[in-house]
Amino acid sequence: MKALILAGGMGTRLRPLTLRTPKPLLPLVGKPLVMHIIDRLPQEVETVILAVSYMREALETYFRENDCGRQVVLVEEKVPLGTGGAIRNVRQHLDGTFLCFNGDIVSSLDPVELLQVHRHCQGIGTLALWKEADPSAFGVVEMKDGRISGFQEKPPPGQAVSHLVNAGIYAFEPRLLDHIGEGTVSLERDVFPRVLDEGLFGHRFSGHWVDCGTPESYLRAQATLIDGGMDLYRPLLNDGADVIGPNHLDGVSLVSCRVGPHVCALPGSRIMRGSVVERSVLMTGALVGEDCQVRDSILGPGAAVGNGTMVTREVLVGVTPVR
Ligand code: GTP
Repeated sequence: MKALILAGGMGTRLRPLTLRTPKPLLPLVGKPLVMHIIDRLPQEVETVILAVSYMREALETYFRENDCGRQVVLVEEKVPLGTGGAIRNVRQHLDGTFLCFNGDIVSSLDPVELLQVHRHCQGIGTLALWKEADPSAFGVVEMKDGRISGFQEKPPPGQAVSHLVNAGIYAFEPRLLDHIGEGTVSLERDVFPRVLDEGLFGHRFSGHWVDCGTPESYLRAQATLIDGGMDLYRPLLNDGADVIGPNHLDGVSLVSCRVGPHVCALPGSRIMRGSVVERSVLMTGALVGEDCQVRDSILGPGAAVGNGTMVTREVLVGVTPVR
């Protein structure tokens, strides 16, 4: 079986991080975002197709240098074709029922269960559905007699027809391709409403689901994964630091600081004397100087926060001035 991962978006909401690294390769609790999807694929998936466009070379290099245990095929769009156009663009690789994932989703969905429901319902597609208390920021799904009967894109607060949102994970039949036109096509807006009569079904799951498209949701996904068992305490050095778990601390040097909860610090990062870091990530080689406060923030690879600086809800990739 083939699994298709849509990984060609520009990730503008995660800039400036995504100016240097494509979103699927951003480290999330120590491994690239896209690997959280690949590692959960069912055994029967022998080939992963990545629909890529933005920063294709970086993805190519990663999969050339890292064996993910399955055959990986990268298919490029010269210009991004949208989520529907991307599926059409890989049609020569699709020969049967396939799984399809938005490349920035972290979830507890079991794809085996999704496939079971899909095979039972025998429609053109089955969408994983997540119940969201406030669905106004998502694609909302309307159900009737066990089938999807309509869609509502980002409804105003209080006007949603249901609390079930499209989780961006699907099982499809190849005949879906007959309904995707040339050029730029949105799966959600252009294709789904057109194939309702062909049988679109939903599979509701529980556990966790986070679309990591924004700094806030990226940090939410990080906290969810740390709480869910990806916590780690393996600092390179702990010289008098107060550590409040759970965190994911791997190869970080801690010097008389206070760290946690929900901090991910990757190899070569450092937190110096008198600083406090909470609910944040320090990517490889990032530095928090002395007497800083860092909360709800993302420090990219090698980013440095100068002594005495307060950082709240920021995404940093450079160096803030030393005071
Ligand atoms: P923003 O620019 O911040 O909206 O991010 P994005 O470009 O990733 O868009 P969005 O979050 O809506 O995309 C959801 C998923 O679809 C992501 O995994 C994207 O990589 C993927 N995606 C979006 N547009 C395209 C496209 O044109 N081609 C391909 N191959 N993938 C896409």
